[in-house]
Amino acid sequence: MRLWKLSYTSTATAPHDGARHQLDEICSLAQVQNALVGITGVLTLHRGKFAQVLEGPESAVRALWQRIIRDPRHHSVAIVADGPIFVRRYSDWSMAYREPRSFLSDQLDDILRQTAEVVRAMNATWH
Ligand SMILES: Cc1cc2nc3c(=O)[nH]c(=O)nc-3n(C[C@H](O)[C@H](O)[C@H](O)COP(=O)(O)O)c2cc1C
Repeated sequence: MRLWKLSYTSTATAPHDGARHQLDEICSLAQVQNALVGITGVLTLHRGKFAQVLEGPESAVRALWQRIIRDPRHHSVAIVADGPIFVRRYSDWSMAYREPRSFLSDQLDDILRQTAEVVRAMNATWH
């Protein structure tokens, strides 16, 4: 079974305090449910927008995704990344809450690493 990563952003339906409360509820439930199906990842909330990274067996990620996109606690869901991965980034967390700054810092690390890999591959092709 392929290891899959899906990340997305969405807009919280509830205003700020309500969304913050929902975030806590979602994390508590997700920590239990995700562990049962081998999903790990992180979730954050910034200015009324959720951002989440899900990683795990492709079928489990897709099944969870179908539930998440129907969840009335958010709307305007937009996929950021959807594809196979070789290693998990959040192997210790069935679903961790991260402050937006820390969430972004992790994502930036990934983007910089991927960019470096692409540049290396292009250089190897040209030389
Ligand atoms: C932003 C957001 C992130 C969510 N992340 C997860 C998650 O990682 N794991 C999970 O089981 N449910 C997550 N949920 C909740 C699911 O949408 C759904 O309510 C939950 O899985 C229960 O589904 P069920 O009632 O079909 O069992 C999330 C919901 C939202 C709004």
